[in-house]
Amino acid sequence: MTYNPQIPKWGEKYLEEKKEKLVNYHKWLSTTGNKTGLISQKTDQYIWDEFIVHSLYFYKIIEDLGVEKSSIFDLGTGGGIPGVPISIVSSTKVVLVDNKKSRIFELDRLIKILKIEGVAAKEKNAIELIKTKENAIFTLRCYLSTSSLIKETKKTLKKSKKLNKNIYLVSSNKKNNIKTDKMFHVKQEKFLINKNDYRFIDVITSM
Ligand SMILES: C[S@@+](CC[C@H](N)C(=O)[O-])C[C@H]1O[C@@H](n2cnc3c(N)ncnc32)[C@H](O)[C@@H]1O
Repeated sequence: MTYNPQIPKWGEKYLEEKKEKLVNYHKWLSTTGNKTGLISQKTDQYIWDEFIVHSLYFYKIIEDLGVEKSSIFDLGTGGGIPGVPISIVSSTKVVLVDNKKSRIFELDRLIKILKIEGVAAKEKNAIELIKTKENAIFTLRCYLSTSSLIKETKKTLKKSKKLNKNIYLVSSNKKNNIKTDKMFHVKQEKFLINKNDYRFIDVITSM
């Protein structure tokens, strides 16, 4: 099947620099990723636009925030989305986190096949991990909603009485009305994944 490995203007530099690796990852998702149940059957264009381009915007936000030096934890990573595209275009250390052993097994193989540097796959409970990290960046695509994440994180913050200074980037499908309060600042980014379709990512900073 043919597809157009496009990217809107905001991400042209990622494609110029890393097209070959991104295309190889696309191929892996559409073959092995589909065969091993990491993703369901999708068209090649869908895999490119919704998984790869969407993932790259998570990194665009990290670059814009100027926090590339912190470690990135991709929670509920599944087939490595958005963590693998992020690790392909960045030099920041990325940890792909999932609580399913079979997914970690396939991701370990992918990291070797694609020879991606600065990335590791770990079988862990994401909720437990959130409780232990400080000054980290967490990406979450189709795993927890912004409201569930805030609920979980508030429990931890109240117990530890610590300021964790983490940043959470969470995919969402539409405008939400989550309000900034004294513990969390919430800002929503809207961006194009192709010529016509917009997606949203919530940027949540703990204060
Ligand atoms: C809907 S999939 C999303 C996968 C990927 N992020 C994407 O956008 O396609 C959710 C993933 O979260 C993982 N997951 C569910 N509960 C988890 C937990 N407590 N800790 C870590 N991973 C978890 C599942 O195994 C699954 O791979």
